[in-house]
Amino acid sequence: MSGEGGDERDPGGEAMLRLLLSQRAHRELLPDPVPEDAIERLLLAATHAPSAEDRQPWAFVVVRDAATRAAIGEIAAGAWRSGAREHARARLGDRLFADVDRWATGGLARAPVVIVVCGDRSRSDPRSLAASVYPAAQNLCLAAHALGLGSLFSTLATASPDLSRRLGLPDHVVPMVVVPVGLPARRLAPPRRAPVASRAWRDRWGDPW
Ligand SMILES: Cc1cc2nc3c(=O)[nH]c(=O)nc-3n(C[C@H](O)[C@H](O)[C@H](O)COP(=O)(O)O)c2cc1C
Repeated sequence: MSGEGGDERDPGGEAMLRLLLSQRAHRELLPDPVPEDAIERLLLAATHAPSAEDRQPWAFVVVRDAATRAAIGEIAAGAWRSGAREHARARLGDRLFADVDRWATGGLARAPVVIVVCGDRSRSDPRSLAASVYPAAQNLCLAAHALGLGSLFSTLATASPDLSRRLGLPDHVVPMVVVPVGLPARRLAPPRRAPVASRAWRDRWGDPW
């Protein structure tokens, strides 16, 4: 099948699937600057996500300023120290815990760009705000991967009121995802996931895939 404007011989679908199947959570990024046109393309991809009633209730704060990045890093570190670390210790494997620990206590602030994906409550029913904003954040991360950039879908820093204050967000705008973006410090192996057959059923729950 080829969509509007697609090329029957090379619709790009396989390349897209390869991207989907190789995207990872990048917690170590190089400090090299990310060109403005790459950021523009990430935002373009993000704003092409679906949303309930097509309300497009997203907003993005693109943070390059070093002091603001450091402040976001401190907010995440504070949230990590005051409960999240303890919670994660019991739930994450050793390797993932060590990665998140390093990221939450310095890695985040070292990313050259931090994009804060926000939800605009004035443009959405509260019940669908998150469901409308998360696909935009995921589009952004996939577009980063397509451009050879690493990114991370993270929510650790979003619960703190300090984040909204630091970014000067108006009351009707809430931070929902913090996405550090930059060149990956290292190449990551493809993600490992539970097999489809452990999560999918045919026609009726319990009938094996
Ligand atoms: C809703 C959500 C919140 C997340 N929050 C964080 C976070 O605060 N910090 C973090 O390091 N990773 C966070 N992650 C990333 C997950 O840890 C990551 O997607 C998962 O471990 C799979 O990683 P992989 O794709 O590299 O295998 C979050 C992911 C989602 C979907």
